[in-house]
Amino acid sequence: MNDVNRQWLLNGRPDESNPVVIEDHFRFNEAKRPAVTAGTFLVRTLYLSIDPAMQGWMRQLADYMPAMKIGDVMLGRGVGRVVESEQAEYAVGDLVYGVFGWQDYFLSDGRDRNGVAVGKAPKKVAPASVLGALGTTGMTAYFGLFDLGRPVPGDTVLISGAAGAVGSLVGQLAAFAGCRTIGIAGGGKKCDWVVKELGFDACIDYQSEKVVDRVAALAPDGINVFFDNVGGSVLEAGLANLAMNARVVLCGGIAGYTKIIPGPANYMQLVMKRARMEGFIVLDYMPRFPEGMARMSQWLAQGRLKETLDVADGFEKAPKALIGLFSGANLGKQLVRIGDDPAA
Ligand SMILES: NC(=O)c1ccc[n+]([C@@H]2O[C@H](COP(=O)([O-])OP(=O)(O)OC[C@H]3O[C@@H](n4cnc5c(N)ncnc54)[C@H](OP(=O)(O)O)[C@@H]3O)[C@@H](O)[C@H]2O)c1
Repeated sequence: MNDVNRQWLLNGRPDESNPVVIEDHFRFNEAKRPAVTAGTFLVRTLYLSIDPAMQGWMRQLADYMPAMKIGDVMLGRGVGRVVESEQAEYAVGDLVYGVFGWQDYFLSDGRDRNGVAVGKAPKKVAPASVLGALGTTGMTAYFGLFDLGRPVPGDTVLISGAAGAVGSLVGQLAAFAGCRTIGIAGGGKKCDWVVKELGFDACIDYQSEKVVDRVAALAPDGINVFFDNVGGSVLEAGLANLAMNARVVLCGGIAGYTKIIPGPANYMQLVMKRARMEGFIVLDYMPRFPEGMARMSQWLAQGRLKETLDVADGFEKAPKALIGLFSGANLGKQLVRIGDDPAA
């Protein structure tokens, strides 16, 4: 075990006038590995989860995350191995997950940095999947689609951010539910991948095609469920093509994270189509995570669900990996591998 605890500290933040995350917002630091005391245990983080929402955490816009001061260890979810323990409930070798921050080691009294009980992953699960299909990413796809989208066989489901972590799973789950799936993604390569590898029925390249017209052509009877990760003009294009009684799931609005975008001008479509538009935060579903994890594990084990992990190797890569989300550098779930698994 190393005596040094590498950390990325918050060195600055994006704000309303400069919302773009840059490398200068982070400062590398080497601290001492924390010592375990009675009632605590030490986690060696293996993978960091890289999420668009982190931009909002840096700006202190998320009420479900603690405030971060300049100089604090960057907040972030991770999965790791318990390497020392003086706590009866967590044994050396346990695979655990939670908000450990961007650092090698996290000392816990049973809670993570968000005050939530550190989660224990089921035995025999691949560590990276704990942040992918079986983690908050997978749970976002699962509960967002099934609880809010409520797809029924024969529905047409539109998914923006279709080549990303959440979207790539949502399209597959919608197909399992007997739906026709149309993705929206950036670039021809990503669209090809979404159709050929993930089995979406169609994919619209928002960078080169007029989304509103393409949705109309691909879904002449309208969209029954729109799972939106993007917002802005993409949201408007979906609203313009709703079927009667459609459900619009507001998962995220990444187009508005780095620049100010107006709200949807055509929201009256919701009235005309007797439709429902609803946002959610996946953490509210935590009591039901075991249900979602069980279903997702089953689909993974059957080889029906494809989990795509985009892994940057090396602790130093974390800031660039986060910045890359906003230019679409990732395919599937962005992770950073920061350590070898002592149990491997
Ligand atoms: N509600 C919740 O509880 C919850 C939980 C998790 C995530 N989310 C939200 O869900 C969304 C997806 O998250 P994720 O983790 O799956 O990230 P992700 O989709 O893997 O990564 C972000 C993707 O967004 C796309 N993008 C970036 N800037 C864009 C823009 N201006 N316009 C259109 N697309 C853009 C890029 O794909 P392209 O190359 O296709 O542009 C990029 O790959 C985010 O908005 C996130 O905040 C919400």
